[in-house]
Amino acid sequence: MLKIDHVSASIAGNTVLRGISTEFNAGQLLAVVGRNGAGKTTLLRAMMGLVPLSAGTIAMNGDDLSRVPAHRRTSLGIGYAPEDRVMYPTFSVEENLRLPCDVLGLDVTEIDQRLARVLEVVPQLREMLPRSGSALSGGQGKMAALGRALMVGTRLVLLDEPFQGLAPVLANQYAESLRRLHEISPELCIVVTESNRSLLRDLPDATLILERGELVEGEDS
Ligand SMILES: Nc1ncnc2c1ncn2[C@@H]1O[C@H](COP(=O)(O)OP(=O)(O)OP(=O)(O)O)[C@@H](O)[C@H]1O
Ligand SMILES: [Mg+2]
Repeated sequence: MLKIDHVSASIAGNTVLRGISTEFNAGQLLAVVGRNGAGKTTLLRAMMGLVPLSAGTIAMNGDDLSRVPAHRRTSLGIGYAPEDRVMYPTFSVEENLRLPCDVLGLDVTEIDQRLARVLEVVPQLREMLPRSGSALSGGQGKMAALGRALMVGTRLVLLDEPFQGLAPVLANQYAESLRRLHEISPELCIVVTESNRSLLRDLPDATLILERGELVEGEDS
């Protein structure tokens, strides 16, 4: 579904991604594991069009994404929960979740249906909906960011280090949500990065290892 072909990228003159080639397929729950600074965030940002490629291509179902600007990639069904999970503080959590769908021009019925599905996957979000986007703890913010990514990520969801810093109870709930998501949406491809592999438990179907911007031979987990 998403084909990454010999992708390189530089930030501030330093090469951060070096000739990455891999493919993400429908229905996979994939982990990208690598130490701090390995390039995990940059890889996700490159997929979202937020980091320019210095070489290579990223294609979705055969279409080269270089022609799709970052703000249009959500319209392809790609959802992204960045590490810093920013919520708009002047909006409620519900408004934060609905916003990317409004931007896509989806009608209210469709947005309602998506929200209902998200609440099925992440039931803890229900009680947070009326709260201000600024009134969430770090862990709750991660749950909300997952929900927001799922509102638009109907084909591919990219989650950047979601388990980092989560208290054990919340980490268990988050893992449960991903399992439910994998079951409820069997066609969805879910990509999770993590620097600490043990936080992923037995969730991923397969694990890619990123070292200094390169994918190295990694065993399936
Ligand atoms: N804005 C920036 N300016 C300069 N260098 C950057 C910038 N962002 C990232 N880098 C460099 O790019 C490399 C990869 O960073 P990236 O954030 O992708 O790693 P990561 O695997 O996500 O790390 P972490 O586990 O700490 O989140 C690092 O060496 C980092 O120093
Ligand atoms: Mg990172």
